[in-house]
Amino acid sequence: MLQKIAVVGAGNVGATAAQRLAEKNLARTVIMIDVVDGIPQGKGLDQWESAPIEGFDTRVIGTSGYDEAAGAELFIVTAGIARKPGMSRDDLVKTNAGIVGSVAREIKRVAPQSIIVVVSNPLDVMCHVAMKESGFPRERVIGMAGVLDTARYRSFLAEALDVSVEDIQAMVLGGHGDTMVPLISYTTVSGIPVTQLIAQDKLDAIVDRTRKGGAEIVALLKTGSAYYAPSAAAVQMVEAIALDKKRILPCSAWLTGEYGLKDVFCGVPCKLGRRGLEAILEVSLTDAERKELHASAAAVRETMVAIG
Ligand code: LAC
Repeated sequence: MLQKIAVVGAGNVGATAAQRLAEKNLARTVIMIDVVDGIPQGKGLDQWESAPIEGFDTRVIGTSGYDEAAGAELFIVTAGIARKPGMSRDDLVKTNAGIVGSVAREIKRVAPQSIIVVVSNPLDVMCHVAMKESGFPRERVIGMAGVLDTARYRSFLAEALDVSVEDIQAMVLGGHGDTMVPLISYTTVSGIPVTQLIAQDKLDAIVDRTRKGGAEIVALLKTGSAYYAPSAAAVQMVEAIALDKKRILPCSAWLTGEYGLKDVFCGVPCKLGRRGLEAILEVSLTDAERKELHASAAAVRETMVAIG
């Protein structure tokens, strides 16, 4: 258990993440920070009042400043705006880069030894902004995307195969966008290669649905994007770090030559423990998968260029 975890952004993803952290007793205190005065305070108090019923002792506190988060061991950054009609993709990137940049500088000020788990979109580029503005080493700036994309892929496969989600092992790599790379060669059902259990056309359809998983939820909700699965994914990463579990999870990490990629954040298999990103695992890929991973990293770079 950590002493203090801070969640920046008290919107749907941030507030749901705070609740999940508390219900899992992952910290003594969870600080929820948001610039909209009243929202974090109200949601934090509401969550704390659920503690006697749910049986957790994590104190959830909402605030509009960063001082309460002083010395926090870990931050989940969900701050940022969603795309509105008439806005270009670059507008969104620039606005969120400004927000995430100032958040990262505040984190550096109040908790220079902390670990940052980035959730804000466009994910891989926001990780870069957070790392640059905090000045933290790559071990302490990790992006949440692969766990979410993999969860979507696993849930679709479990449904199609009529088996438990627990028995689907898989990994989705690459950037968090349409170019993500579900690794079919590493997808197994209790160790059985998935290609032995499902027809190729069905598998292709699941891969395609996975790539568009975020958009599918946006289309249904109409006024926002997904938050139950994204918050669960972020909290799974936090749990691996807080409990020093050394879990191998697909996360966005700053690459320094791994997979032939350099100076870019991209989803790869990572070992997460109390020190944050403790290792990047380089697994062998098929030629097609490697090509797809490079194309995905190129797409991340294109968005990076948009913010200069
Ligand atoms: C999604 C957003 C949260 O994939 O990135 O749903």
